[in-house]
Amino acid sequence: MAFKVGLLGLGTVGTGTAQILLDPAQRHPLVKDLEITKVGVRSLDKPRDVDLPQAVFTTDLDAIVTDPDIDIVVEVMGGLEPARSLMLKAIENGKHVVTANKAAIALYSDEIFTAAEKAGVYVLLEAAVGGGIPVIEPLKQSLCSNRITRISGIINGTTNYILTRMKDEGGAFDDILADAQALGYAEADPTADVDGLDAADKIAILASLAFGGRVDRTAVYSEGIRNIAAEDIAYADNLGFVIKLLAVAKRQTTDAGEQLELRVHPTLVPNAHPLSNVNGVYNAIFVEGDPVGQVMFYGPGAGAGPTASAVVADILNIAALLQVERGTAQRADGTPLLDPLLACTHQTDCAIAPIESTETRFYVRLLTQDQPGVIGFVGTCFGEHGVSLASVVQTNRQGDSVEIAVVTHNVQEGKFRQALEKLTAQDSVNDIASVIRVL
Ligand code: NAP
Ligand code: HSE
Repeated sequence: MAFKVGLLGLGTVGTGTAQILLDPAQRHPLVKDLEITKVGVRSLDKPRDVDLPQAVFTTDLDAIVTDPDIDIVVEVMGGLEPARSLMLKAIENGKHVVTANKAAIALYSDEIFTAAEKAGVYVLLEAAVGGGIPVIEPLKQSLCSNRITRISGIINGTTNYILTRMKDEGGAFDDILADAQALGYAEADPTADVDGLDAADKIAILASLAFGGRVDRTAVYSEGIRNIAAEDIAYADNLGFVIKLLAVAKRQTTDAGEQLELRVHPTLVPNAHPLSNVNGVYNAIFVEGDPVGQVMFYGPGAGAGPTASAVVADILNIAALLQVERGTAQRADGTPLLDPLLACTHQTDCAIAPIESTETRFYVRLLTQDQPGVIGFVGTCFGEHGVSLASVVQTNRQGDSVEIAVVTHNVQEGKFRQALEKLTAQDSVNDIASVIRVL
């Protein structure tokens, strides 16, 4: 049973999405049931990085959202219009919608979700916040028993990439921004990234899910990173902080009642805080809830592959629902057809590799006799078994023995064990005191 997918846009995210759908091997079995039947673009002549027949391309995006054969419309074109109107038209035509468009969702969520409820279709948006990080579904599902008190996050990849490189290399703002654009992280107009507006869109969406209500995007306070100077980064470093563009949504209870604090601004984050180590294009969302405590979601926050990972997860969620809907009536033996993403996969046996075949690095502490040439001998013995050494340190004496600590390069465990056996059998080796695998 194939589910037909129409893509609105084949840029950074659309291309990543198509690449996953066209290469289903070793992914969830449902991926092979997804078929891209139409792709809406601005230019039909542009060279594309995907192997799709020319016939699927069109500049008539209306024809995609009204196509009776299409089950799922994937909006990865960006911008407010015509993205908003096309999503609404797709919904009106009974299509489920997957979108990565945080700007349109933050501003028009009420209109879009109201229309979707009325039409009985889903609008899924995992890719809209945090790129490849699953955070929307966890807030909707896995954490739904919690009372969320606060969300603080680094939720713009471009600005985190710029701030990280400014700190590490002291590079020029404009050059680093150009790199972020070339890598596909920045928006078509990077103002939204640099001025904190993209992060404001995303925190509005997260707050709405976490606190269970409509959030007025225009009420989110935002400051960007344009005024952060190299001197500020250096002073912050001296004081034990790192500067990050943080988005915060917090429940505030006062005598006047309950309200939400919603803000995006550069923030000095203490070096000891988990968010201080989120670097480059990585994002992280730190959620505090009752009773779960603190949970952090971390991963690549932008770019073709990570964002497409989230888009395709949403497409699969919808395909799974459709499969149940359509399959129940068709099931011959009368047993209920379960949602293939909710049910655990158990149909086939996975072949498990024996530990001898695994490859890792090893740390070994040996006690040897205090003789000339012992270190050379240890190195030769490992070398004869194909174990290359990254470092060898001779440390303390212990009685008659000297202690040698060795770290290997990556080696197959079987070969490493043979080398150890050979070493253990030598008179000059008194003891293999410890063996620990190295990450
Ligand atoms: P992009 O590279 O600029 O691609 C946009 C695509 O949409 C292009 O294929 C373009 O056609 C098509 N398009 C745009 N306007 C159109 C119109 N009016 N008519 C027909 N086709 C149109 O954008 P992107 O980076 O993939 O971003 C897409 C969405 O994902 C945005 O909402 C963005 O905020 C969101 N997002 C992006 C990332 C990321 O890392 N890039 C991460 C998360 C979310 P042509 O190819 O013919 O120009
Ligand atoms: N421009 C956005 C960013 C893309 O840099 O985070 C991901 O939403």
